[in-house]
Amino acid sequence: LIGSVAGAQVQDMPGGPKVNQLNLHEGVTAISRDIMWLHWMLLTICIVIFIGVFGVMFYSIWAHRKSRGHKAATFHEHLGVEVAWTVIPFIIVIAMALPATKTVVAMKDTSSADLTVKVTGYQWKWGYEYLDGSATGIKFLSTLSTPRAQIENREPKGEFYLMEVDNHLVVPANKKVRIVLTAADVIHSWMVPDFGVKQDAIPGFLRDTWFNADKPGIYRGQCAELCGKDHAFMPIVVEVMAQADYDKWVEDQKKKMAANADDPNKEWTEAELVARGEKVFAANCVACHQANGKGIPGSFPPLDGDKVVLGPKADQINTVLKGKPGTAMAAFGGQLNDVEIAAVISYTRHAWSNAGKGQDPTVL
Ligand code: CUA
Repeated sequence: LIGSVAGAQVQDMPGGPKVNQLNLHEGVTAISRDIMWLHWMLLTICIVIFIGVFGVMFYSIWAHRKSRGHKAATFHEHLGVEVAWTVIPFIIVIAMALPATKTVVAMKDTSSADLTVKVTGYQWKWGYEYLDGSATGIKFLSTLSTPRAQIENREPKGEFYLMEVDNHLVVPANKKVRIVLTAADVIHSWMVPDFGVKQDAIPGFLRDTWFNADKPGIYRGQCAELCGKDHAFMPIVVEVMAQADYDKWVEDQKKKMAANADDPNKEWTEAELVARGEKVFAANCVACHQANGKGIPGSFPPLDGDKVVLGPKADQINTVLKGKPGTAMAAFGGQLNDVEIAAVISYTRHAWSNAGKGQDPTVL
């Protein structure tokens, strides 16, 4: 089932899990293979016990039935039987618990990682920030890029659908990657079945997990904690690359960031800010707000509607920086740089003005 949820659209992923497969993923990490092995081992023990217990029971019912003249035994206690049914299950439980505990301990051991990435869950996207090594400073948001209408109107209905994101996490193969998780609004969960990884992202807490994928490829997951109306639309896409390809990706990423860097010392014209703000708005705000100030129908009350206005600029800046307690409006102070905040505010005030409100946005 997990395979289906995270899986591909119509065709099976090459070398990957089958669409609608019912079993777990074999995966590409030692942990995911351990989990698979534990799953088979525990299932086998359970089946053997099931057949053994029910076999003896049904055999006894049949072979010692009354019509054959058998009478029920009436003894009260039997030391041998009691010792047997205490000791045998105890040994079985220990035999199951030892390897399972070993795997759980290994899953929690995030020490001596080769690379650390901070992952932040937002309603409804993921933020990735590389904290060490050559990739230090690379950060981006990962948002659903497949058009929603295409997903919602898919035929046949109920088919699982491959969801793409604008930016995906990229990591080197055969390296221990530590994921440090938190969330900015509500609890999310970062789950990639092929890595054997599922860890909650909790606001105000840092949790960590790790994986070491030994096969380059694209691996998919899903937010695994119900986090609001678009919970189903925050896919996780991770690309595992050979070290040389990863190094090249890091370099390209750094060049791209340098080219797009927002220079706070530059004299930004109003038009430049508005243009920049449109992109910031598209990446951060459109899930809940229309640019004209109204809420997305059916999900959020109008930000503006016919009653409420954008308000004084200082108040709007405050709301963007600190969020609005008691509502879904998150604090963007830590997420956006100063230029992005100035840009998105310029953009919304222009869009609001252009939507026929009539006021000059610069004096609002
Ligand atoms: Cu985020 Cu569900």
